[in-house]
Amino acid sequence: MNRKSFTDPFGRAVTYLRISLTDRCNLRCVYCMPKEGLQWQPPADQLTVDEIIQVVRVAAQGGVTRIRLTGGEPTIRQNIVGIVRHIAHLPGVKDVGMTTNGVLLKDLAQPLSDAGLKRINISIDTLDPVRFKKITRWGNLDEVWAGIEAAERVGMKPIKLNAVVVRGFNDRDVTDFAKLTMQYPWQVRFIEMMPFGEVAAFAKDGIVTEEQIRDRIEAEFAPLELQNEGKLDGEARIYKFAGALGTVGFISSVTQPFCASCNRARLTADGVLRLCLLRDKELDLLTPLRQGADEVDIKQIILDGIWHKPWGHGLSREVIPLNRVMSQIGG
Ligand code: 5AD
Ligand code: SF4
Repeated sequence: MNRKSFTDPFGRAVTYLRISLTDRCNLRCVYCMPKEGLQWQPPADQLTVDEIIQVVRVAAQGGVTRIRLTGGEPTIRQNIVGIVRHIAHLPGVKDVGMTTNGVLLKDLAQPLSDAGLKRINISIDTLDPVRFKKITRWGNLDEVWAGIEAAERVGMKPIKLNAVVVRGFNDRDVTDFAKLTMQYPWQVRFIEMMPFGEVAAFAKDGIVTEEQIRDRIEAEFAPLELQNEGKLDGEARIYKFAGALGTVGFISSVTQPFCASCNRARLTADGVLRLCLLRDKELDLLTPLRQGADEVDIKQIILDGIWHKPWGHGLSREVIPLNRVMSQIGG
């Protein structure tokens, strides 16, 4: 069959590419990395900016319109502003977003915005400075808060705050978090913790489900009203408090998978296409790129890979991803 755009046999079109720019991070969140860090990818095995651009150009030809830059921590990649500018100006790219821990955002928000970054998701798991330090192992909450304020000041929109809820670390903070939406026009999103490789047992033990989070917020504060008749906004189910400026979202990959509507693929910093966040199946792009494959070849490889995109994850049957942790995929 002569396919031109990225679709799979389940009728899903891949229009959204998440690109991990580095596997390194300036924090060590307990659910993401061991304290001592990981075996970092050697720089020579990582995609160069030119190689990333080549892949994005091809992806856009296949129908990808949205790009999100992730990590590890994307802002620690050298010349991050230049990378954003380059990608934002490629033909077919309509929207460039970033998921960041916000630590460096205070100074970077303006240049990133000028370079074409419009949408930002900031990971912040608690509003309590002591617990923030515990969950990130050395993070400083003030820096992240300053980053959020900077993003707002330069007009990034929408601003989404992502909190992974971990039993015993920040489960008691969810109500305070949700209450932020009374005052700010942000989307505060609670993410169910997913199991990966070395940190899988921790994630399984510490997961707090959407239902548990919602029950807690409603018991401690006020009812959450379901928005959009429960239709997902991206991957999040959206709720709102009466009279609130912002919304509360739930990303419930574990208890309520949304695989049937998945429109995404992921490119890792070391040049593999990951077709499902939670499946180990990967497609090497680095080798063909370095062996001189042209854009037609790369497009064919991606077309074939997406045709074999896994139908969904297997968490309910205890099939968990083992070959990478989140920071090596990009979320
Ligand atoms: N489960 C769910 N979310 C995770 N993140 C990192 N590790 C996990 C995990 N095990 C989140 C980060 C960030 C996003 C990229 O993914 O907190 O918000
Ligand atoms: Fe870094 Fe994000 Fe992993 Fe935390 S979750 S260690 S901020 S990559």
